[in-house]
Amino acid sequence: MTETIRVEAASRAYDVVVGVGVLDELGERLRGACYADAAFVVTDSHVGPLYLRRTLDALEAAGLRTSSITVPAGERFKRLDTFGSILEAMAAEGLTRDSVVVALGGGVVGDMAGFAAASYMRGIQVVQVPTTLLAMVDSSVGGKTAIDLDAGKNLVGAFLQPSLVVADVETLRSLEDDVFVDGLGEVAKHAVLADQALFDSLLGAPLTRNSDASALVEVVARNVAIKRDVVNADERERGLRQTLNLGHTIGHAVEAASGFSLGHGHCVAIGLCCVTRATESLGWTSPGVAERVERLVAAQGLPTDTDVPHDTIVSFATHDKKRHGDGVSLVVVGDVGRCEIRHVSLREFAHIVELGCGVDA
Ligand code: GLY
Repeated sequence: MTETIRVEAASRAYDVVVGVGVLDELGERLRGACYADAAFVVTDSHVGPLYLRRTLDALEAAGLRTSSITVPAGERFKRLDTFGSILEAMAAEGLTRDSVVVALGGGVVGDMAGFAAASYMRGIQVVQVPTTLLAMVDSSVGGKTAIDLDAGKNLVGAFLQPSLVVADVETLRSLEDDVFVDGLGEVAKHAVLADQALFDSLLGAPLTRNSDASALVEVVARNVAIKRDVVNADERERGLRQTLNLGHTIGHAVEAASGFSLGHGHCVAIGLCCVTRATESLGWTSPGVAERVERLVAAQGLPTDTDVPHDTIVSFATHDKKRHGDGVSLVVVGDVGRCEIRHVSLREFAHIVELGCGVDA
């Protein structure tokens, strides 16, 4: 039960392998995907105890020399000092341009290890091994890598497409419910953007970490394919890829305001609902869509609103990367499966926040 999705981004083509037990095939698959004699695994204090030994065994069985670093888990560690310690460890282990970084973990590990690979010796290969739903359906695919600054999330980073992504859905079973559900925020976003059938099926039968392996593989693969289509068309986010930021302007602000205690996917779900409520009341979204989006989000066990003060949201959004000149680029849902980018002034954005946020809270 394995699905392979081929990404053909402008800078690199690679496979995303989604299956059961594929972690044990990592070494062989990596050998087929990149030239490397040594692999450096970056993982965190949650994932390392569960999967690091198995990952190293799979790599060593394929004849690769291995070394690793385990960093503290959590978004608050996606910072310059952790990033620096990864680079220092890579140098201490004698990594060369023939080495590959293996990112084993969720979105934070993937972003930070990817950026370390993009920076070390001006760029070496990276293989992504996502172990959370959010990383499988979104952050491990498409080549965005980054760390956070005091001034905002993901403010420093690089594009580096992985040479391979290996997503073993069995790792989802060891997630806490809340962490699994977090990934459903990005799944809901993809369904709203591009897939009425996925939207309907998630409304009817929400995915859980105990769902059949075949259902997990199917939903992850479908989401990867949605993202693949966007990345193939617009790797560098000049146009179409901006639509993947649906819900993120308000979502990032809520996430920052929570001190990153609320998961990214939860915040995207909130942003998705808030912006759609507002744009429906402005007449930019077909009637009834906001209510359908809220039902989808709530059915996944995710929040649909926030009590973060409006001026706090606007203030965080003004520091967001999606700010352009005196306004922000906002992804607006016309209907399920149809959206557009609108440039709104900060004043209009403040009005949107007033219309859409804190309505149900
Ligand atoms: N997470 C949105 C993107 O990769 O573009």
